[in-house]
Amino acid sequence: MLQLYLCLLLPELHVIHVSDIHGGIYGHKDQPELGDIGTLLSYYQRVQQNISSNPEAAMLLIGTGDDCEGTALSGLSEIKCSEIYKFLTNVPFDMMTVGNHDLSQPASMEFLHEFQHNFPKKPFVTTNTFYNRTGERFSQPFKYQVMSNGIRVFMISLMFSPTQNDYQNTYTQNIEPTLRSLWFSEILSEYAVKSDIFLLNMHIGTLEPESHSTYKTIRALFDEFNYKIPIHVLGAHDHLVFHVICPPINGVVDKNCIATECGQMLKNLQHVVWTLAPHNVTTPVGINFTGSTATNVFPFEFDEMIVAPTHAGEGLAARFNIFPESFDTEDAIILRIQVQAKIKQVNVYQVIGASKFTYVYEKGVYFNDSFQRLWNLALMPALVFNRELQKRCYQFPITRVDNTFRKDVQQGNITLDDAVRMVPFSFNTTYLPNIEPEQAQCLYFWGNLARWNHDHDVISVERFQELFQKYKQTSNETAKIVPFYSVSNNTWEGPCYDMITTNYEEKRLTMGYKYCGITGHEPKVYPTSSGIQLTDELFIEFIKRYFNQNEEDEEFENENEQKIVITLIAALWLFGILAIAFFAFK
Ligand SMILES: *[C@@H]1O[C@H](CO)[C@@H](O)[C@H](O)[C@H]1NC(C)=O
Ligand SMILES: *[C@@H]1O[C@H](CO)[C@@H](O)[C@H](O)[C@H]1NC(C)=O
Ligand SMILES: *[C@@H]1O[C@H](CO)[C@@H](O)[C@H](O)[C@H]1NC(C)=O
Ligand SMILES: *[C@@H]1O[C@H](CO)[C@@H](O)[C@H](O)[C@H]1NC(C)=O
Ligand SMILES: *[C@@H]1O[C@H](CO)[C@@H](O)[C@H](O)[C@H]1NC(C)=O
Ligand SMILES: *[C@@H]1O[C@H](CO)[C@@H](O)[C@H](O)[C@H]1NC(C)=O
Ligand SMILES: *[C@@H]1O[C@H](CO)[C@@H](O)[C@H](O)[C@H]1NC(C)=O
Ligand SMILES: *[C@@H]1O[C@H](CO)[C@@H](O)[C@H](O)[C@H]1NC(C)=O
Ligand SMILES: *[C@@H]1O[C@H](CO)[C@@H](O)[C@H](O)[C@H]1NC(C)=O
Repeated sequence: MLQLYLCLLLPELHVIHVSDIHGGIYGHKDQPELGDIGTLLSYYQRVQQNISSNPEAAMLLIGTGDDCEGTALSGLSEIKCSEIYKFLTNVPFDMMTVGNHDLSQPASMEFLHEFQHNFPKKPFVTTNTFYNRTGERFSQPFKYQVMSNGIRVFMISLMFSPTQNDYQNTYTQNIEPTLRSLWFSEILSEYAVKSDIFLLNMHIGTLEPESHSTYKTIRALFDEFNYKIPIHVLGAHDHLVFHVICPPINGVVDKNCIATECGQMLKNLQHVVWTLAPHNVTTPVGINFTGSTATNVFPFEFDEMIVAPTHAGEGLAARFNIFPESFDTEDAIILRIQVQAKIKQVNVYQVIGASKFTYVYEKGVYFNDSFQRLWNLALMPALVFNRELQKRCYQFPITRVDNTFRKDVQQGNITLDDAVRMVPFSFNTTYLPNIEPEQAQCLYFWGNLARWNHDHDVISVERFQELFQKYKQTSNETAKIVPFYSVSNNTWEGPCYDMITTNYEEKRLTMGYKYCGITGHEPKVYPTSSGIQLTDELFIEFIKRYFNQNEEDEEFENENEQKIVITLIAALWLFGILAIAFFAFK
C-alpha cells in the first residue's frame, strides 16, 4: 500500500523563475528570437495546461527583483518603471520582490507601494525591506501557501544587506540579524513544522558569499527542528544563468536544495520540478510532525526564452509537444498587442543618431573603441566640463563602468531605446571638489579597489596606504590597470582635481576619504555646461548632437565630429586630463 502510494501519488511542484527584467518586456532588437513578456505568459499558461490533468502537480512563478531600469519604456515613463509594473500584473506571479534598481527609484517605489495590490496573487514579499513613510515592511514579510496538491510552501524574499542605505524612501536591514530576530523565530516555529518546501528568494547573486551564508543560516534554523526541509534558493542580481545543487555544508552535499539564477531581461528562465515525499520528523524536544523530503529535483536544462529549436536546445515549444507557431496563448497575444501600442505611443524606436563605430563597454580607455573612452573623453568635455571650474582645477571624470554602461554602442542607427539600454541609469552628476593631486590619485585607487564593497573585510588606513604606495611604485602598467571605475594615465601633476562622479558613486568614493587623509571636500552637484545633469539624459543628448548621421547633411555631420575632436584636444592640452588619450585618438 505504502509503496503504491509512493510510486504513483507523489506530489510535484513546478517552480518557474525569472528575474532582473530591467524593463525588458518587449524583446530584443539584436536577438529577435528571444522572448518577451508574452513568451513568459504563454509559457506559464502552457505549463498550467500541461499539468492540469495531473492533480498531483502544482506550479509557482517567482520573480526576484530589479524590474526597473534598462529600457526606454521603463526609464522614460513619467513615473519611472510604472509601465513595467503595470504590464507585469498580467503575468500571474506567485511571489515577487524588489531589487536595488527598484529601490533606487524613489518615485517607482512610491508608485509600487500602492500599486502592488493590483497584482492578482499579492506576490510582493520584502522580508528585510521597509518603507520609510510607514516604518512598516514595504510588502508582506513572508508568504505561506497551500497548493492544490497539498504541498505547503513557505517563502521569504530578501534584499542583499546594504553597504550603506542610499535609498530615499525605503531601507533594507541586514539579513543575518533579520533571520536571527525574535520576530523571525516566532514565524519559523509556527510554519517550519507545517511546510513541505522553503523558497529562499534573494536579490543576491547566487555565487556571492551572502547568498551562501544566508542559505546556511536557513539550514541551521531548520536544524533546530531536526528538519532537512527542501530549499529552493532563487538568486538574482548578477545576471548569471545556471542551476546547481547547493554547496555542501560541512562537506555534506545537500540534495534537498537547488539554487537557480536566470539571467536578465527575460532572456532566460529556469524551471525546476520538485517531487516531494512525506517525511516524518521528531524535533529535539520530542514533537512529531510530517514534512517532506525531495525524491527528485529536476531542472529543465534548456534555459533560453526561445520558443523554436536552436543550436543550443530544443526550444520551449517542444516541452509541450506543440509547434513553435502555436506556442503563444491568446492572452499572450493580446498582452503583446497592448505592449506594442504603448511602445508606439512612447516612440521608443525613434532613431536619434547613428554611430560609425562600435564602442565596447568593457574596454578601458586605452582602447580606441572603448565606450568609457567615448564617455570620458568626448561626452564629458562636450556636455559636462564647466569652464569656470576648469580655470581652477583639472576636471577628472570618475566613471564606474558597471554603473554607467550596460551595453556596447553598436555601429549603425541608435534608437531612443538603444540609448537607454546602453546607459539606463539616471544619476545626478556631482563632484568632489578641489582635491589635491596625491589625494586624488589615492581616491582613484581606493575606488578601483572597490574597498567599500568589502565591508566584511575592513582594512586599516595603514594597510591601505601600504597597498597604495606599492601601487604607485609598480612599473608594470598592466598591473596598474584596475578598471573598476576608470582607467587613466594621468600623471597627477595638476594643481588640484575636481573629481566628477554621480550622486550614487559619491557615497562610495567618500568612504575612501579617511583612507586618503581627505577632510571636508563634501560632494556637490556639478554645474554641467549643457545644463543636463542626469547620466541617461546626457547620453541621449550626446547621441542626438554628435552622432547625427543625417546623410543629406554631410557637412553638418563633419562639423560636429570636428567639434568633438577639438573639444577633446582642448580638454587634453588645456586641462591635461588624460595624457595617453592623445596618442590613440589622433
Ligand atoms: C508536461 O507534462 C509531461 C507529462 O506529465 C511532463 O513529462 C513534462 O515534463 C511536462 N512539461 C513541462 C514543461 O512541464
Ligand atoms: C529611512 O528610515 C531609516 C530607518 O529609520 C533611516 O535610517 C533612514 O535614514 C531613513 N531614510 C530617509 C531618507 O529618511
Ligand atoms: C509518518 O507518521 C504517520 C503517523 O503520524 C504515519 O501514519 C506514517 O506512515 C508515517 N510516514 C512515514 C513515511 O514514516
Ligand atoms: C514521535 O514518534 C516516535 C516514533 O517515530 C514515537 O516513538 C514517539 O512516541 C512520538 N512522540 C509523540 C509525542 O507522539
Ligand atoms: C580603432 O583603431 C583601429 C585600428 O587602428 C581602427 O581600425 C578602428 O576604426 C578604430 N576605431 C575607432 C572607434 O576609432
Ligand atoms: C537608420 O535610420 C534612418 C532614419 O533616421 C533610416 O532612414 C535608415 O533606413 C536606418 N538605417 C538602417 C540601416 O536601419
Ligand atoms: C540634482 O541634485 C540637486 C541637489 O539634490 C537637485 O537640486 C537637482 O534637482 C538634481 N537634478 C536633477 C536633474 O534631478
Ligand atoms: C602612460 O603614458 C606614458 C606617457 O605619458 C606612456 O609612456 C605609457 O606607456 C602610458 N601607459 C600606458 C599603459 O599606455
Ligand atoms: C604585470 O601585471 C599583470 C597583471 O597583474 C601580470 O599578469 C603580469 O604578469 C605582470 N607582468 C610582469 C612583467 O610582472
